[in-house]
Amino acid sequence: MLSVSTMTDLVEDRGLDVTARLAVHGISKHYGGVHALSEVSLEVNAGEVLGLVGDNGAGKSTLLKILAGAIPPSEGEIRLDGEVVTFATPHAAKEAGIATVYQDLALAAQRDVVSNFFLGREIIAKGRLARMVGWLDNKEMREHTTRELARLGTRIPNVTLATRELSGGQRQALAIARAAAWTSKVLLLDEPTSALGVEQQAQVLELIRRVREQGIAVIFISHQMQDVMAVCDRVVVLRLGRVATTLDSSELTSENLIGYITGAKIGDLVKPVLERGQ
Ligand SMILES: Nc1ncnc2c1ncn2[C@@H]1O[C@H](COP(=O)(O)OP(=O)(O)OP(=O)(O)O)[C@@H](O)[C@H]1O
Ligand SMILES: [Mg+2]
Repeated sequence: MLSVSTMTDLVEDRGLDVTARLAVHGISKHYGGVHALSEVSLEVNAGEVLGLVGDNGAGKSTLLKILAGAIPPSEGEIRLDGEVVTFATPHAAKEAGIATVYQDLALAAQRDVVSNFFLGREIIAKGRLARMVGWLDNKEMREHTTRELARLGTRIPNVTLATRELSGGQRQALAIARAAAWTSKVLLLDEPTSALGVEQQAQVLELIRRVREQGIAVIFISHQMQDVMAVCDRVVVLRLGRVATTLDSSELTSENLIGYITGAKIGDLVKPVLERGQ
């Protein structure tokens, strides 16, 4: 067992920032012989948008699911505000302040914007009878939803519409606004702009910026390089389950991104591995 000081030295030697909002150290995930992730380390700070890019099958969604508590890692450590955490369930990750928006959004299509916004956190009306019967305070919930959506700049015309009556962009915005409103620390987004038109993409990017302004750490997965360059402060490129490189904002060009994603450019982190023939 390592002492605390040795552990700190180790972490500092590897250049990892233990003060980051969310830090991932040496995460691997194996499915039988498939190495979906191998020794992935990265950090994201409060008020930062970290892009996570890579070709199909690079391991992006797998990493997100591990951070969201949906699947356990085979190896490695996750730290939230410096504390080592393990999430047995998605609920545990949510309780710790990590919210996730998956591509399928998990909205209830038949229910209106307000009930989707509150899903599972409904406000019960005041009074003994109301509590016994479980009446909801619909007015308060409507006002709260309208206020929150406006604060985040989402353009949803009417919170009493059923979500199936919203456009793809409005649904995406609702899912992100809901996650951001109930989370305090980290927001994980898996391809939030992939199915959207240009105007709606711009709205979702603006929403992500507003979430960042709240001091939330955001991880943004995307195949759309324009979106990545528009909103990310830094970008981690995954290739074949490993971190190929991390690009700072000054290095965020499509040439760099595409080069590292395709392997035309080889990052210092994967070079030794490729040379060893692993
Ligand atoms: N449940 C599973 N069982 C076996 N292999 C899996 C499982 N989930 C993912 N994988 C494998 O892990 C690798 C990484 O998949 P992942 O979904 O994380 O990729 P991705 O980067 O999100 O790709 P995309 O851009 O296509 O969404 C792939 O080779 C995939 O086949
Ligand atoms: Mg994926």
